[in-house]
Amino acid sequence: MASSFSHFIFVSLLFLIIYLFQLSFQQTLCHNEERLALLQLKESFVIEKHASGNPFAYPKFNLWKSQGIDCCSWEGVWCDQYTGYVISLDLSSSCLFGSINSSSSLFRLSHLQYLNLAFNDFNYSEIPAALGNLSRLTYLNLSASIFSGHIPLEISKLSELSVFDLSYNFDYSNPRLLELKSTDFKSLMQNLTKLEYLHLSYVKINSSIPDAMANVSSLISLHLGNCGLFGKFLTAIFHLPKLEYLSVVCNWDLSGSLPEFPFHNQLRILQISRTSFSGELPISIGRLGSLEVLNASCCNFSGLIPPSIGNLTKLLTLVLHNNSFRGEKASFFSNLTQLARVSLSFNQFTFSDISCFAGLSRLQRLNLCSNQISGSFPSWITNLTELTYLNLGANMFRGSLPSSISRLKNLKTFNIEFNTLSGVLMFDTILELRYLKYLSLSSNKFSVLPETRNITNTTFPKLTELSLGSCNLRVFPGFLHDQDELEVLDLSSSDIYGQIPNWIWKLSKTL
Ligand SMILES: *[C@@H]1O[C@H](CO)[C@@H](O)[C@H](O)[C@H]1NC(C)=O
Ligand SMILES: *[C@@H]1O[C@H](CO)[C@@H](O)[C@H](O)[C@H]1NC(C)=O
Ligand SMILES: *[C@@H]1O[C@H](CO)[C@@H](O)[C@H](O)[C@H]1NC(C)=O
Ligand SMILES: *[C@@H]1O[C@H](CO)[C@@H](O)[C@H](O)[C@H]1NC(C)=O
Ligand SMILES: *[C@@H]1O[C@H](CO)[C@@H](O)[C@H](O)[C@H]1NC(C)=O
Ligand SMILES: *[C@@H]1O[C@H](CO)[C@@H](O)[C@H](O)[C@H]1NC(C)=O
Ligand SMILES: *[C@@H]1O[C@H](CO)[C@@H](O)[C@H](O)[C@H]1NC(C)=O
Ligand SMILES: *[C@@H]1O[C@H](CO)[C@@H](O)[C@H](O)[C@H]1NC(C)=O
Ligand SMILES: *[C@@H]1O[C@H](CO)[C@@H](O)[C@H](O)[C@H]1NC(C)=O
Ligand SMILES: *[C@@H]1O[C@H](CO)[C@@H](O)[C@H](O)[C@H]1NC(C)=O
Repeated sequence: MASSFSHFIFVSLLFLIIYLFQLSFQQTLCHNEERLALLQLKESFVIEKHASGNPFAYPKFNLWKSQGIDCCSWEGVWCDQYTGYVISLDLSSSCLFGSINSSSSLFRLSHLQYLNLAFNDFNYSEIPAALGNLSRLTYLNLSASIFSGHIPLEISKLSELSVFDLSYNFDYSNPRLLELKSTDFKSLMQNLTKLEYLHLSYVKINSSIPDAMANVSSLISLHLGNCGLFGKFLTAIFHLPKLEYLSVVCNWDLSGSLPEFPFHNQLRILQISRTSFSGELPISIGRLGSLEVLNASCCNFSGLIPPSIGNLTKLLTLVLHNNSFRGEKASFFSNLTQLARVSLSFNQFTFSDISCFAGLSRLQRLNLCSNQISGSFPSWITNLTELTYLNLGANMFRGSLPSSISRLKNLKTFNIEFNTLSGVLMFDTILELRYLKYLSLSSNKFSVLPETRNITNTTFPKLTELSLGSCNLRVFPGFLHDQDELEVLDLSSSDIYGQIPNWIWKLSKTL
């Protein structure tokens, strides 16, 4: 008994000592003037749930008061463990609403190395020039936070920056709230030589790409989508040794071509869609062994796809639609076993055999529409059960649709319009595709047999778009009776005769 009591005293004393030690330690850690600056910063905003547009956002500083006087233990705040100065402040997604300017108490935190204010609403304030005085910053993230106006030249003083993210500063009426002057872009690229992540998507940059960018050899990720860039894209940027992620999408006046790629590059994601890039894909594209995404849709590419693309065995996404590619052979696709998404639509491919896709069991989206692809309808396609999107429309496929098409249980879009498919098509088969939303069978040579199952079957898909133009239907498909989510219905030239059933007029409410 006595021993357990003294044990109790001992343990209590120990806790008391630890507590006192922590208290004294705490008091030495956070600097008083920095605590006041943080509290003042907090007071300068109102909290608005809508400001962060993110369901998980919450004001990180709500608990600051209850988290004690040591500001170094406050949520979102980190201090240097020896000097006690605040070196890191993360108030991203904190529902902050209000403006910020160069007199903000934020700029009294002069030791900051990391500053993240992304996903708030700074009410169209300009980016404060005083940021340029936080000379130790290595990380600056003001993404999606409703800043507007010119990006101050003072940012060029932040020569330690490795992450700089000003992307997605837009609102409903203005896709580009921020603007970067051509000369300032040049200064940034000359001075910020340690940049690894440069994200300026949706910043208005009325400029070509400054030569100095090709000198920033530390770059890992470059996002310049929707910037209004023009001129010729520098080939040397493709050769930056650490570059993994490049996106210049939606810069219609930016031209360029893909260069000869060296071996040993790191590119994983290459997005140049909706630009004026042109020319052919180089054979050396086969050296991009790490490539996972190639998105070059809506450009001005032409020529053959080099078979070396079959070397890109990590490729998940290949999007080349709306170009002028041609070619008769597609066999190299059979190596690309990881592919989940392929879009070759609106080109001039004349494949007569697409069985190279038969083994790509991970395919979820396959779009080959609007080419001149021929051959009989690929019956093996019914093995690709991951497919959610299948568009073979506007080609020259012939033969009949196998009844095993009902195995594609995940299909949401199925389009085989404008081919020369024939034979009898049983509607029952199609109606087994429960998740189907978009169906077009128009302009083939089928005879479509109406469904035989109970037309009030609740497992029928609920379509939003249905095209059965020129399908030799003869009678109104009874399953239409329950299609109350239809927005588009095309039954033109379907040789339907007899009476129009009365229930069809019910549908018109949704159409
Ligand atoms: C946001 O800006 C508007 C217009 O300048 C101003 O009237 C309003 O008070 C500002 N709101 C906040 C919370 O700063
Ligand atoms: C900066 O903002 C504060 C509070 O929002 C305001 O009182 C002050 O006048 C502003 N200073 C300048 C220079 O605009
Ligand atoms: C940056 O710091 C200098 C020196 O302390 C000061 O004179 C200047 O006003 C500051 N700049 C801004 C924009 O606050
Ligand atoms: C900027 O912050 C947001 C929100 O925390 C984050 O999603 C984004 O990845 C950050 N950007 C960079 C380049 O780290
Ligand atoms: C570029 O950096 C140098 C030194 O780091 C600095 O003196 C100069 O002012 C910076 N240029 C601009 C335009 O900020
Ligand atoms: C964009 O830059 C070009 C040439 O540099 C110039 O002629 C044009 O006026 C600028 N447009 C805008 C809107 O600033
Ligand atoms: C790129 O770096 C080289 C070597 O440091 C230098 O000579 C050249 O002027 C730089 N180019 C630009 C455009 O800054
Ligand atoms: C390709 O880029 C376009 C932008 O031009 C984008 O809308 C689309 O989602 C991208 N596709 C893929 C699969 O990344
Ligand atoms: C494709 O891979 C083969 C075998 O690994 C290699 O010999 C060939 O050089 C590669 N082709 C290209 C263009 O990288
Ligand atoms: C696309 O390239 C062709 C030549 O290959 C050229 O005639 C045409 O003007 C280019 N179109 C655009 C929009 O650049």
